[in-house]
Amino acid sequence: MDPAFVERRARVSKLLGPHAALLLASPTEKLRNGDVHFKFRQDSDILYLTGFEEPGTVVVIRPDHPETPFVMFVRPRSPTDEIWTGRRAGVEGAVARFGANAAFPIAELEVRMPELLAGVADVHVGFGYDDDWDARVLRILGRMRAAERRGQRAPVRLVDPRLSLHEMRLIKSDVEQDLLRRAAAITAEAHTAAMRAAKAGVKENEIEALIDYTFRRRGGTGPGYPSIVGCGANAVILHYVENSAPLEEGKLLLVDAGCEVAGGFTADVTRTFPIGRPFSPAQRRVYESVLEVQVAAIEAVRPGATIDGIHAQVVDQITRKMVELGLLEGEVSALVEKQAHKPFYMHRTSHWLGLDVHDVGFYSVEGASRPLTAGMVLTIEPGLYIAEDAAAPAELRGIGVRIEDDILVTESGYENLTRATPKSVAEIEKLVLGG
Ligand code: GLY
Ligand code: MN
Ligand code: MN
Repeated sequence: MDPAFVERRARVSKLLGPHAALLLASPTEKLRNGDVHFKFRQDSDILYLTGFEEPGTVVVIRPDHPETPFVMFVRPRSPTDEIWTGRRAGVEGAVARFGANAAFPIAELEVRMPELLAGVADVHVGFGYDDDWDARVLRILGRMRAAERRGQRAPVRLVDPRLSLHEMRLIKSDVEQDLLRRAAAITAEAHTAAMRAAKAGVKENEIEALIDYTFRRRGGTGPGYPSIVGCGANAVILHYVENSAPLEEGKLLLVDAGCEVAGGFTADVTRTFPIGRPFSPAQRRVYESVLEVQVAAIEAVRPGATIDGIHAQVVDQITRKMVELGLLEGEVSALVEKQAHKPFYMHRTSHWLGLDVHDVGFYSVEGASRPLTAGMVLTIEPGLYIAEDAAAPAELRGIGVRIEDDILVTESGYENLTRATPKSVAEIEKLVLGG
């Protein structure tokens, strides 16, 4: 058993307070078509606290309980079911391999829960994500309330785990930072392989497959989110995932892909590079504009800085670049005031990163953007997206560029976890031209 899980459970237990229980449920498996389900991905909170990857799981943490503070409900062993759907740890494995103090078949959840919640006042549980789970929790609490006359008081408060568990997930431990470094190293290799392989006539989805293959071959579990591989004007579609067009000589290819590793942590990296040729003068001007702004934003990361402050700096600088490129006309400060950048840069600069690509953790404290502290990980991902029909100089139309790195906040500043992914014009041109 990995001691990281024991340590995380101990830490979250302290945050939950007295007379509390934390309930976590794995997501319902979703039908894809016919009898086929989408590949299952465990709930990130369950992964974080247990490493248990099977569907049909509920975890109960009761910090005050003297004998069984950590209880799991799981799919029981079943020789016949396991022939069809794979091996299960079962209740025995949940105890022996995952450290549960007690484990029960998931079918017993509703009958056993009132006993497990006896004496609990605060139930920490995520609600509003899954109707079936919400209904189960409410049913359990309703039955407990109805039975109060027999002497046991039902829980009185539902508490959002974003206040405890998710604030804990926001600060990455040394072990978690190493997992992100591993995800970043594999991601760098995959982006480098993509730059080498992307030639005219190769399809976007072949590059996607190469990235996927590189992730898995190097020991990752696969992409942490659907890879975006968009050539030419497809790069202007922010969440383009069709990935079906052939690459065209002289166009730019935008690749947004990050590897997830065992334990569930993912990288989130974007690179943009030309197909079969050096950057054209227009592409290079746009690329270097975004790069300069991105590098300056990374340098602004340090304890005390804020995501809103960094975004404001990016908006200021990218607006200046838009004027220099001929995309906007006027006084920079007036253009910033009017948010004139939005047709060409319509998303924000950063989000938290961790077990989820858009990771948990509040972005604001008492209404203001929260100061960064050591152990937080955020992306820095400015872009410039000039649609083919945009009111823009002709040579810039159809150019989309995003550059995205994953930045760990350290005591003294930052560590760019994804710095090994080639980014300068010289490095990129060398790779795409076969160097
Ligand atoms: N890959 C999703 C994002 O960059 O936010
Ligand atoms: Mn991102
Ligand atoms: Mn991304």
